Amino acid sequence: MFLTGAFPAISVATYCLLGVALTLCFIFYFRRPGKLPPGPWRLPLLGNAHQLPSKTPWTVFGQWAKTYGNIIHVDLFGQSIILVNSQKIAFDLMDKRSTNYSDRPIIPIAAMSQVGDTFALQSYNDSWRRQRKMIAQEFTAAGVSRFQSLQEREWRLQVKRILHNPDTIFSEIKLRAGVIAIRALYGYYVRTPNDPMLSNPIEVIREFSRLSTPQTGLAFRFLPRWTPGVTFFKEALDYERLHVAATVAPYEWCKTNLETPKVLVPNVCCDIWEKNSVLDQDGHKQVYNALSSALGGGLDSNASSALTFFMTMILHPEVQQKAQMELDTIIGFDRLPDINDQSRLPYVRAVLAETLRFMPPIPLCIPHALKEDDIYEGYFLPKGAWVIPNIWNMLRDPIVYSDPMTFNPDRYKGDDKAMEQVKNLVFGFGRRGCPGRLFAENSLFVLIATTLATCNISPGLDENGKQVLPNGNYTSGTISFPEPFKITINPRSTNTDALLAEVHELYE
Ligand code: HEM
Ligand SMILES: *[C@@H]1O[C@H](CO)[C@@H](O)[C@H](O)[C@H]1NC(C)=O
Ligand SMILES: *[C@@H]1O[C@H](CO)[C@@H](O)[C@H](O)[C@H]1NC(C)=O
Ligand SMILES: *[C@@H]1O[C@H](CO)[C@@H](O)[C@H](O)[C@H]1NC(C)=O
Ligand SMILES: *[C@@H]1O[C@H](CO)[C@@H](O)[C@H](O)[C@H]1NC(C)=O
Repeated sequence: MFLTGAFPAISVATYCLLGVALTLCFIFYFRRPGKLPPGPWRLPLLGNAHQLPSKTPWTVFGQWAKTYGNIIHVDLFGQSIILVNSQKIAFDLMDKRSTNYSDRPIIPIAAMSQVGDTFALQSYNDSWRRQRKMIAQEFTAAGVSRFQSLQEREWRLQVKRILHNPDTIFSEIKLRAGVIAIRALYGYYVRTPNDPMLSNPIEVIREFSRLSTPQTGLAFRFLPRWTPGVTFFKEALDYERLHVAATVAPYEWCKTNLETPKVLVPNVCCDIWEKNSVLDQDGHKQVYNALSSALGGGLDSNASSALTFFMTMILHPEVQQKAQMELDTIIGFDRLPDINDQSRLPYVRAVLAETLRFMPPIPLCIPHALKEDDIYEGYFLPKGAWVIPNIWNMLRDPIVYSDPMTFNPDRYKGDDKAMEQVKNLVFGFGRRGCPGRLFAENSLFVLIATTLATCNISPGLDENGKQVLPNGNYTSGTISFPEPFKITINPRSTNTDALLAEVHELYE
């Protein structure tokens, strides 16, 4: 009361502004230990929080690069974040200086639940090293070849199902990706989408994707857990229960049924046990946490690339025809393509690479973190800073990829080195790079080749029977996938039925 009486409202506002200005000066001139990379103007306390886009942030960060350059500093509630928009800087930092750049930020949802004990999200330490080694050893070129027939059969089954019932395509894709991952990792064969062994981990990934965006967690890290109106903490508790149920269940199932034929072999879980014959309680925890990271990866980014493939095939019938011509010529009509045909099918390989380039499933990678202070091109990069590589932007660099917004497998001109360059970005960087890469590539290849060999893909129809094209928009979480779209699937040749008739569901 007396304040408003003593000072006109306008001067109160002025004092406030002055306060803000002083705080800004303080932050900029006293707290800054060196010249940070450029970035958008920051507010005190909030930093750049108000500017961080919630919708497809990779496109906005790409825009920022035009103003601030390819290395940008933003501040989120006091947390330094380095955005890397170019391939060169990403490799300079995360590959060449990988000792310093292989840490992960402790994201709040991980710190608050056991998901923080799985190596994908762990600090760069001995626990990470141990788990990572377990998984990396299983997913070498030789290691993934033992799962080829599984991947081939499941993607053939997918085609068989969707030709019978095109409406199920999206649920069927998710189911098959899950069947493959859980069979390969734990020896368990999922039969229906409602099997909790599959539906629980899918729910976990969806929740994780939602609760792990930088905005969600960092905003709440200074608040007490009882803050009114903040549901994050309760959600984190629910998440913890779900996570434990989803990751312990398949592990315990495998352990319990180990000596029975229920456990299908080979599988990663049993192979890790064999290599580590004596496991104490902590050892078992390390194994199941290692498998939980692999399950997260294997559930495949919501089969994002599979969806992108179907979407782009609707939009580019000319690409479909060209790939089908290659398949008809090289494979013929007497058999279905398999993973070993990869070397004979350069155009299908290009479709795969272009699918990954067009929309990398994890467009902003999983953030790395800096272990030590570092200097790069004169800029000071503080210890503990998050390093976020904008993979999406790197794959749309017009200097490397002319007309980058267009889906065009011909851009590689059959050059596998150019395709490799795409994959070297899509699967991440340095010592943190995706250990499941070869497995994922095989799966995607056989999905694409089998589908194109047997199906014609065209736009779906609306209620009035009119064709509707996909809108091309993508969702915004850590894992991005196309918004729902309509699709029509038709069998290609009379022989398709005969070839697919021989493919059967596997029941033990
Ligand atoms: C198209 C499919 C996939 C894509 C696009 C993909 C992409 C990625 C990316 C971008 C990262 C982060 C790398 C970094 O931090 O620099 C990553 C990490 C990881 N991926 Fe994948 N991934 C895929 C499939 C898989 C599969 C099938 C597995 C199963 C083994 C897997 C397991 C992992 C694990 C465990 C990590 C964490 C590695 C670590 O932190 O050390 N991913 N993946
Ligand atoms: C590794 O880091 C994680 C945090 O990400 C921590 O929980 C764990 O105890 C550390 N393990 C070792 C062996 O240092
Ligand atoms: C996967 O995609 C479906 C729609 O196809 C969506 O409802 C779901 O939220 C997605 N899951 C994740 C983990 O993003
Ligand atoms: C981390 O970076 C700093 C600064 O460039 C360097 O002095 C240090 O040797 C690096 N540490 C490691 C382990 O590479
Ligand atoms: C795609 O997203 C943009 C931006 O969010 C929106 O303006 C547009 O309407 C969306 N397109 C369609 C067809 O939904």
